Amino acid sequence: MEMGLNNKTALVTGSSKGIGKAIAIELAKEGVNVLINGRSYEEVEKTVKEIKSAFPATSPQNATADIVDAEQREALVKKFPNVDILVNNMGIYEIMQYEDVTDEIWEKYFHTNVLAANGLSKYYLTKMLGNNDGRIIFIASEEAVMPSGQMPQYCMTKSMLLSLAKSLSKLTKGTDVTVNTIMPGPTLSENVQQIIEGIYNHDHMPFSEKERQFMINNLPQSEIQRFIKPLEIGRLATFLCSPYASAFKGSPIRMDGGMVPTIY
Ligand SMILES: NC(=O)c1ccc[n+]([C@@H]2O[C@H](COP(=O)([O-])OP(=O)(O)OC[C@H]3O[C@@H](n4cnc5c(N)ncnc54)[C@H](OP(=O)(O)O)[C@@H]3O)[C@@H](O)[C@H]2O)c1
Repeated sequence: MEMGLNNKTALVTGSSKGIGKAIAIELAKEGVNVLINGRSYEEVEKTVKEIKSAFPATSPQNATADIVDAEQREALVKKFPNVDILVNNMGIYEIMQYEDVTDEIWEKYFHTNVLAANGLSKYYLTKMLGNNDGRIIFIASEEAVMPSGQMPQYCMTKSMLLSLAKSLSKLTKGTDVTVNTIMPGPTLSENVQQIIEGIYNHDHMPFSEKERQFMINNLPQSEIQRFIKPLEIGRLATFLCSPYASAFKGSPIRMDGGMVPTIY
């Protein structure tokens, strides 16, 4: 514990699994009391117990809620009115052809990937400004700045998060509150692992070989030629939450394994 985060409280949305869970674990490692969120009470409870047994000095709590639902979001912030850190991680993604993206699907992605995070940020930012301290992190994607064309409905929402984070950051002027965005590249959450296993389900080879082939065939631009580990995103997020990162203001921060080919 050396990051100056001991005894802080963090709400990490979508943290019962995947990148969100890894962020929650890395924060707990630094003594943060994490509020674990997801829609399934049982799944959330499993993660809470796992974190409690790994970091018994912290107090992880069950923050089950469908945060896309405005009423459940309201109930959540009423139950946990004070947090030092908000990580807007929850997001949905799916490969889709542009022609298949109906107005309903555009709206669903906007509500899920943007408005849910905005609703929580609106509430907690006001509190953080009042305390002159706090951290908000949005989890976007390298697709926010480099749409692949394979998920137009998703990329739009991730680009929006960059803009939203900067607008909110403007409101933090002169305070110790920061609002930033992490843009992960392809990351090996359980969900992504299942997708890769599904693609190679007839081949009897170790996952590392499936990963290698997937990279060569589908992500040749990746400079690491492997998926990013959720833990790597978790470490970065933890640093951004620390007092050492107070000069990051409205920054889009790439941890994309070299996916984006440009310098800046
Ligand atoms: N994995 C990647 O390669 C990658 C790359 C770049 C960016 N990202 C971004 O990183 C974030 C996390 O991705 P991931 O791959 O870790 O996702 P994931 O494995 O699908 O995990 C999503 C988490 O969100 C929860 N969740 C889903 N809908 C929810 C809702 N309405 N309310 C509350 N919780 C909800 C899920 O639990 P329940 O289903 O039980 O609710 C789960 O805990 C997303 O924003 C994604 O766009 C991912």
